[in-house]
Amino acid sequence: MSNISAILEQSSFSQSDLEQLLKCDGDEKRLLFKKSGEVKDLFVGNKVYFRGLIEFSNVCEKDCYYCGIRNSNHAVRRYNLTDSEILDAARFADDNRFGSVVLQSGENSSPAFADRITSLVSQIKQLSNGKLGITLSVGEQSESVYRRWFEAGAHRYLLRIETSNQSLYHKIHPDDQHHDFNRRLECLQALKATGYQTGTGVIIGLPFQTISDLAHDLLFFQESGIDMVGMGPYIGHSDTPLYAFRDELLPIQERFDLSLKMIAVLRIMMNDINIAAATALQAIDPLGREKGIKVGANIIMPNITPGLYRNDYSLYENKPCIDEEPAQCKGCLDARIALADGEIGYGEWGDSKHFLKKK
Ligand code: 5AD
Ligand code: FES
Repeated sequence: MSNISAILEQSSFSQSDLEQLLKCDGDEKRLLFKKSGEVKDLFVGNKVYFRGLIEFSNVCEKDCYYCGIRNSNHAVRRYNLTDSEILDAARFADDNRFGSVVLQSGENSSPAFADRITSLVSQIKQLSNGKLGITLSVGEQSESVYRRWFEAGAHRYLLRIETSNQSLYHKIHPDDQHHDFNRRLECLQALKATGYQTGTGVIIGLPFQTISDLAHDLLFFQESGIDMVGMGPYIGHSDTPLYAFRDELLPIQERFDLSLKMIAVLRIMMNDINIAAATALQAIDPLGREKGIKVGANIIMPNITPGLYRNDYSLYENKPCIDEEPAQCKGCLDARIALADGEIGYGEWGDSKHFLKKK
C-alpha cells in the first residue's frame, strides 16, 4: 500500500501527513480525489447550493498587496450600487430560488456604512418574506456592528484569514494597524460568538507561501471549528505590488491543482462543513468550479451583480463571466452543475451541517 493510501485510512492528520497529501500526484492524487468524493457523498450528498453574489461596491479602505481593488490602485473606476440596484439583484435571486445571497464589497468602517447594511439586510428579508438567507462579506468591523447586522437578519459571514501564517500575512499586507493579523483573528472570534455561521479561507499559491503554510492553514480551519471555507488560487493583478513577484510563483496550473487538493483534503478532514468552489478556479480553467465540486466543494456563488459593474470588481485578472448578465449565468450554471453530477438545492438555504450539529 502506498504511503498516501495509508494516510487516507487515518482518522486524523498531522502537519506532515497534510504536507504529503498536498504534494501527491498521479495515481496518488486520483486516490485522494476518490476518497474526498466519497466523503462528500456520505456527509453532504451531491447537492450544490447557490449563493447569489452581489459585489455592491469596489470602494475599499484597505491596501492588500494582492488585491486589484486596493485603495492605492487609481486605475480602478470606483462604483457603489444604489440600494434599489442591490434590492433588484436580491429579488432576482429570490425569483430564481437561489436560496441565499452574499453581499460583498470593499472594506468600509464608517457608521453610515453600518447603517446602510442594517437597512439593506432588513429590506432583503422583507422583500423575500424571510426566504432568502443572507451572508455578509464586508470585512473587519466592530463586534457591535456585527451584532446589529445579525439582529437585522444576516446569518452567515465570510472573512478570509488569507493565510494562517502571521509572518506571511505581514508580507502580503502593509505594515500598519489597518492590516493586523490578530485583529482579523479577533473578528473571526467575534463573528462566531455573535452566532453567525462563520466562513474563512485562504489564497493558494501566493508568493512566499510554502506547502507547509498551506498544511498549517488546514489545521487552522480545523482548530478554529469554522463552518464554511472558501479558498482559491492566487491570480496576479498587474496593478498590485505582489505582481513584482510573478516570476517566483508556482506555474498557474500547479496553483490550480494545489487548490483542488486543498479542497479535497479539507473535505476529508472536516466532512460536514460547507466548502465553496471559488470563482478564481474558473479564472484558470473553464471547468474549474465544476472540478472543485467533484473533489469536495458543495457551494457555488454565481455572480448576480448587474453586468454594468462586473468589470470593475476585478480582484484579480481574467475574472470569468464579467460580460454576462445574471440570467445568462444562471442558465450556464444549471448546465455546468449537471455535468459535474451535482443537483442544485433550489430554494434551500443549504446551511452548514457542521453548524447545525453544533446548535
Ligand atoms: N487572487 C486570488 N484571490 C484574491 N482575492 C483578492 N485578491 C486576489 C487575487 N489576486 C480574494 C481574497 C479576498 C476575496 C474576496 O478575494 O481572498 O478575501
Ligand atoms: Fe456565468 Fe457561466 S457562470 S456565464
